[in-house]
Amino acid sequence: MMTHSLVAMSYIVATILFILSLSGLSNQETARKGNYYGMLGMAIAIIATTLSASVTTYEILIIALLIGGAIGAAAALKVEMTQMPELVAIMHSLVGMAAVLVGYANFMDNTVVIEGVEKTIHVLEIYLGVLIGAVTFSGSVIAFCKLSEKISGKPLLLPGRHWFNLTLLIASIVLGWMFLQAIDTGDDPLIPLAMMTVIALIFGIHMVMAIGGADMPVVVSMLNSYSGWAAAATGFMLNNDLLIVTGALVGSSGAILSYIMCRAMNRHFLSVIAGGFGTASGGEAAAIEGEVQPIEAEETAQLLLAAKNIMIIPGYGMAVAQAQHTVYEITKLLRDKGKKVGFGIHPVAGRMPGHMNVLLAEAKVPYDIVFEMDEINEDWGKVDVSIVIGANDIVNPSAITDPNSPIAGMPVLECWKGETTIVLKRSMASGYAGVGNPLFVMDNTRMLFGDANTTKQAVLKALRG
Ligand code: TAP
Repeated sequence: MMTHSLVAMSYIVATILFILSLSGLSNQETARKGNYYGMLGMAIAIIATTLSASVTTYEILIIALLIGGAIGAAAALKVEMTQMPELVAIMHSLVGMAAVLVGYANFMDNTVVIEGVEKTIHVLEIYLGVLIGAVTFSGSVIAFCKLSEKISGKPLLLPGRHWFNLTLLIASIVLGWMFLQAIDTGDDPLIPLAMMTVIALIFGIHMVMAIGGADMPVVVSMLNSYSGWAAAATGFMLNNDLLIVTGALVGSSGAILSYIMCRAMNRHFLSVIAGGFGTASGGEAAAIEGEVQPIEAEETAQLLLAAKNIMIIPGYGMAVAQAQHTVYEITKLLRDKGKKVGFGIHPVAGRMPGHMNVLLAEAKVPYDIVFEMDEINEDWGKVDVSIVIGANDIVNPSAITDPNSPIAGMPVLECWKGETTIVLKRSMASGYAGVGNPLFVMDNTRMLFGDANTTKQAVLKALRG
């Protein structure tokens, strides 16, 4: 058993490690170290909590740790890189569920005797903890279903949805007041608490259902933030300082990420949360008309050999095809031949923040040739060949030209301004936002159809041949 001061000291060390972890994760070169700091911090946090005086029955704790640890390890070993976003979403839902369960357990616990203002604060913590937890839980489950394509990514736009949300909000406030009254008067407070839980669950479902495919990046980071606040609320209910601090760190970093995502997509946070942004804008999105010009691997290789300045734009399809290693081989070969090769990364490429950077780092692509959209979007005139690998929405010119497009206003990588664009994908199918892409029929675009890894291997073979 650890003394109270030793536990407090361990919590401070863990907090410092979590802060170092966050700062490490902000840069690709230090991200690995950041992960190690996070793991060490979490290990210290778990050991200190387990050995603290607040734990009285070890049997239940050890059984729970073993079950939870085994499920987590099995999920982490089994999950494909392309399933990471939905894994993250379902993990957020568990944080939400934990906050709800801890709230109810705390509420039903008769062993804690507190009175007066302290009691009011405690029950308010429970009410808010259950509220945030329930919204996080149901919202994350819907995000999981949308990201894993178990339900459609199309926004569900109920008539009068803003009034519906407002009604749910007012009902939660009124029920909160009834909950406090019931505790004072001796009525059953469980009824308003349970009613609010149902309302919060409905609100979480409705909020995420109303958000369109193109705006999902904001939802992912927003639920990340909510899960942090849910953890902080759990910390208040359990009187655990480390959980409060860690929850606040996750909550605020998630909020900052949501802001960055909104800025990257040129969206207003509130309009994304209200849902249906960009979908109710007067007319129909323009149909895509024009002739597709296919290309083969040999001709692609010739174009690459003739080019001086090459830009590679990876998207979700590169993750699906696991083409990053072949892409790196090609990059190495071209750089050895004296070509300038760069990677252009859109902030919402793939299905989670930093998705493409993770894949490229895994394939050992040097960081200094990986550029963010803002660093290169002015320079397309100097690019001879750009290769779009399994990307679609992030290179869609209609975001700029068509005000009725669901992705209108979102900045995109303007590769069509270069000399030639080669797009690698399997078909003419649309991307996550479900929008047609006029890039595919432009005069200076060539389509290399097939699985991106197979076609890239063929290009590599042709380059070597
Ligand atoms: P998408 O627009 O989804 O396009 C991916 C393309 O990859 C598809 O058109 C698909 O076409 C192609 N593809 C799939 N498997 C392939 C394979 N094996 N080989 C070759 N091509 C393949 O992806 P993007 O351009 O990266 O844009 C990201 C989208 O996801 C945005 O709309 C963004 O808002 C959304 N989103 C992002 C996030 C985050 S945080 N990044 C989270 C949720 C949603 P084919 O089927 O024809 O091959």
